[in-house]
Amino acid sequence: MSKRVLTTESGAPVADNQNSATAGVGGPLLLQDQHLLEKLARFNRERIPERVVHARGSGAYGYFEVTDDVTGYTKANFLGEVGKRTETFIRFSTVADSLGGADAVRDPRGFALKFYTEEGNYDLVGNNTPVFFIKDPIKFPDFIHSQKRDPFTGKQEPDNVWDFWAHAPEATHQITWLMGDRGIPASYRHMNGYGSHTYQWTNEAGEAFFVKYHFKTNQGIRSLSADQAAELVGKDANSHQTDLLQAIERGVNPSWTLYVQVMPAAEAADYRFNPFDLTKVWPHADYPLQRVGRLVLDRNPENVFAEVEQAAFSPNNFVPGIGPSPDKMLQGRLFAYADAHRYRLGVNHTLLPVNAPKATVAQNYGRDGLMATRNGSRYDKNYEPNSYQGPAQTDAALSAPLAIHGWTGTHEAPQHTKDDDFFQAGELYRLMSEDEKGRLIANIAGGLSQVSREDVIEKNIAHFAAADTDYGKRVAEAVRALRED
Ligand code: HEM
Repeated sequence: MSKRVLTTESGAPVADNQNSATAGVGGPLLLQDQHLLEKLARFNRERIPERVVHARGSGAYGYFEVTDDVTGYTKANFLGEVGKRTETFIRFSTVADSLGGADAVRDPRGFALKFYTEEGNYDLVGNNTPVFFIKDPIKFPDFIHSQKRDPFTGKQEPDNVWDFWAHAPEATHQITWLMGDRGIPASYRHMNGYGSHTYQWTNEAGEAFFVKYHFKTNQGIRSLSADQAAELVGKDANSHQTDLLQAIERGVNPSWTLYVQVMPAAEAADYRFNPFDLTKVWPHADYPLQRVGRLVLDRNPENVFAEVEQAAFSPNNFVPGIGPSPDKMLQGRLFAYADAHRYRLGVNHTLLPVNAPKATVAQNYGRDGLMATRNGSRYDKNYEPNSYQGPAQTDAALSAPLAIHGWTGTHEAPQHTKDDDFFQAGELYRLMSEDEKGRLIANIAGGLSQVSREDVIEKNIAHFAAADTDYGKRVAEAVRALRED
């Protein structure tokens, strides 16, 4: 079989892909060698900015299938019928390290899911943890700076990591989670996913509910100890990518069962925890899990750069029946992501195949910008309203309105009766077996003992002690023992 012809980017045949054109044998290169110039220039431009967080990740296509009727809570069309399937794309990720970082590290994992629904793409951009370190987006850049590489040493510094946490008592719950047994998942397949934030669902009658999403892995939870992870990183730094890719190639399609906790909107004001505080969970005894459907991953992307690196998820991509809650962190994220995409991928990133709607067509009056490939024809007006056949608004709100009251200002999050920074961290600690507690303490002490300042260590220990006296005492003892070594 004859091979296809190698061409330049403009399609002209290439005569020689091994030798540059020179002035005479052994002479200097010729500027007229278009193929050489194009190859070198394109190579220089291969990289785009990596994601400022969650830079390292893996993606897969699949589908979501509804197994239970939730039409009493949401009018979302893709959840409207038992048995209905919607195509999905997911990107899993680690958070703190750069693109070349290792997979098997102690870090939350991203769980970013795109549903290509008939009413537009719905993005649920969550993590493998039900809570988060902070509850106000204004702290996010400082938080991330403290966890990523230090500008002077060029590496992650326990001094910075723990100094930030010393000033963020609300992080105690998430730190307890992260330093515990689930802190290093064995693979992306063996962990749960959570929407983490509270979202709002609205049904056909206009009734509003607050919901939390839980994707439970059907592969079972599997995690690594610190030692197992260190060994694995040495053997295969890309262990999560290897695992996901190979499982799907083998036809072992990973799946998750989606459950939601549902709170009628009227109950939010008097709930014992602030339901919009991302550092808190809703105990299942208060709001039990209700099954919705299953997510199955069955297809690997053909090209990592095109489909995974260029994937863009935004928490403000909602569909009718689903909307934001007043959670301040979520509200901050509604801005941050699409802004990041415009910087990282450009204003027309929604035209890329992985980001474009698949089950419907985007129709609007946004035009031009770099790389505009779908920009309208002679029949399409680029303004609205118009007297022609251009798309028009529906006058139907996507979700129910949120009630507001009070004054503008830089307010701290409202406190409900059981709200403090430590109660739920203590509950999580007390739930652990004696062995788990031992490993948790060892993990915390391993990091905290490397901090150079005693006052930073003390402040962190005070947070653990406020969660549970025994917890604080044991961390203090373990840190002291390591520092005396
Ligand atoms: C105010 C707080 C936060 C801000 C400002 C923020 C901002 C960002 C930004 C700018 C990116 C990179 C987006 C890109 O370049 O494509 C990102 C990625 C991501 N964030 Fe956040 N983030 C916040 C909190 C969270 C929380 C609470 C979660 C989970 C519950 C989360 C989950 C993710 C995930 C999964 C990704 C990777 C998405 C992907 O795979 O492309 N983030 N975040």
